[in-house]
Amino acid sequence: MDNSDRGEERPIAVVVLAAGQGTRMNSDLPKPLHKLGGVPLIAHALAAAGSLSPARIIVVTGHEADTVEKTVTDLAPWAECVRQEEQLGTGHAVLQAAPLLADFAGDVIVLYADTPFISEETLAAMQAARAHHDIVVLGFEAADPGRYGRLIMDGDKLLRIVEAKDATEAERAVTICNSGLMAGDAATMLRLLGAVGNHNAAGEYYLTDLPALAMAEGLSATAILCPEAETLGINSRSELAQAEIAFQAARRAAMLDDGVAMQAPETVIFAQDTWVGRDAEIEPHVVFGPGVTVESGARIRAFSHLEGCHVSAGAVIGPYARLRPGAEIGNDARIGNFVEVKEAQIGEGAKVNHLSYIGDAEIGDGSNIGAGTITCNYDGVMKHRTMIGRDVFVGSNTMLVAPVSLGDRAMTASGSVITEDVAPGALALGRAKQVNKPGLAIRLMERLRAIKAGRKG
Ligand code: UD1
Ligand code: CA
Repeated sequence: MDNSDRGEERPIAVVVLAAGQGTRMNSDLPKPLHKLGGVPLIAHALAAAGSLSPARIIVVTGHEADTVEKTVTDLAPWAECVRQEEQLGTGHAVLQAAPLLADFAGDVIVLYADTPFISEETLAAMQAARAHHDIVVLGFEAADPGRYGRLIMDGDKLLRIVEAKDATEAERAVTICNSGLMAGDAATMLRLLGAVGNHNAAGEYYLTDLPALAMAEGLSATAILCPEAETLGINSRSELAQAEIAFQAARRAAMLDDGVAMQAPETVIFAQDTWVGRDAEIEPHVVFGPGVTVESGARIRAFSHLEGCHVSAGAVIGPYARLRPGAEIGNDARIGNFVEVKEAQIGEGAKVNHLSYIGDAEIGDGSNIGAGTITCNYDGVMKHRTMIGRDVFVGSNTMLVAPVSLGDRAMTASGSVITEDVAPGALALGRAKQVNKPGLAIRLMERLRAIKAGRKG
């Protein structure tokens, strides 16, 4: 056997299988796009693939291919997609990548789009096992082997994999099961796949036939085992819900280990890519959508919702705040209750403490935005920006009709509708002038009461 085609340093092509219909999800949305941890299932597989620093990532699509491919391209523009027009089995699916791998000298690792918990350590262990074996399968000891393929081992030799449907009673008693992941030399795997037939209970071309075909050629196959939790595959909404519970539990535990303070971690929802610095504090019932980073020492108060935003050190968000994509909160800034921020930079030490909407805006360091202030950023067709300088004081209930700018140290009077730029240091009054009529309130009330009495009589 030639050892040069084994080992850890070879280029890797990851093939992600995502063509299946996912019938048991009972959904119009293709299974790889159902969300786990705020991101599509396939994002987890792509992240696992990325941890191998692969030379290629090839995603096999089929059911709802256009939609799945669009998401893959958004998530990983460097990934290539290949179609499996008819879903004739996992072996047939991998074979669809053959034209892309014709000249590829390296390893193939097959992942599933619906198996989101595979760890980097497990993938590294599969690679390490490749130093001694031609085909490496990832297996696990199943609590309930059910419909899984069974690994028929002889010592560390993997003789063959038998699908549950095709297994004898004795084979079904085996509890070491196939996760679906497989690694081997690309040319060898594709050559062996050419020999796979579909004479089995499902009438499909099984990827799982490869170990036996390899053994028959005098090549070696083995299985390494990982914890069952890692191999959890999503086939139904109930399994997806279970997976979300497991995902959140793992993320919360990891956050606590990383030094994040949480009083009620069981109430906090994280996304796959949430990043929170050491000694940041997350109060109860905070929800993180995708794309959030929170620096050390920031505080996210109860019932806040954040997505696509960055919170700098010392900032305090909420309670009941909403940070939407493009919100960048500076050091020591304050975003208070019932404040929504979208596509806006909030400067160092700036305050937006109550009941405001700040969208498409820039707020300079040290500025104070009064209660109820709104950036009127949308004219019904286009979005416009509001530029606010440093140490500006915006009076309560100011409407800032964008595009508009307020210079450094400017002020606006409460209740103003600001439609024109305000120069640095200027005070803008954009409201009707108040008129007081002495005694009129009392005379008015008397007249109204007299009218009411007249109607009764
Ligand atoms: C497969 C394995 C089984 C293993 C189990 C682990 C085979 C024959 N069986 O069974 O040994 O225990 O996974 O979960 O491989 N797919 C395609 N094209 C196809 C068929 C499937 O892309 O033609 C994709 C699916 O989208 C999915 C993955 O391959 O991501 C697995 O397919 P699935 O039908 O769920 O395989 P199982 O029957 O669960
Ligand atoms: Ca499955």
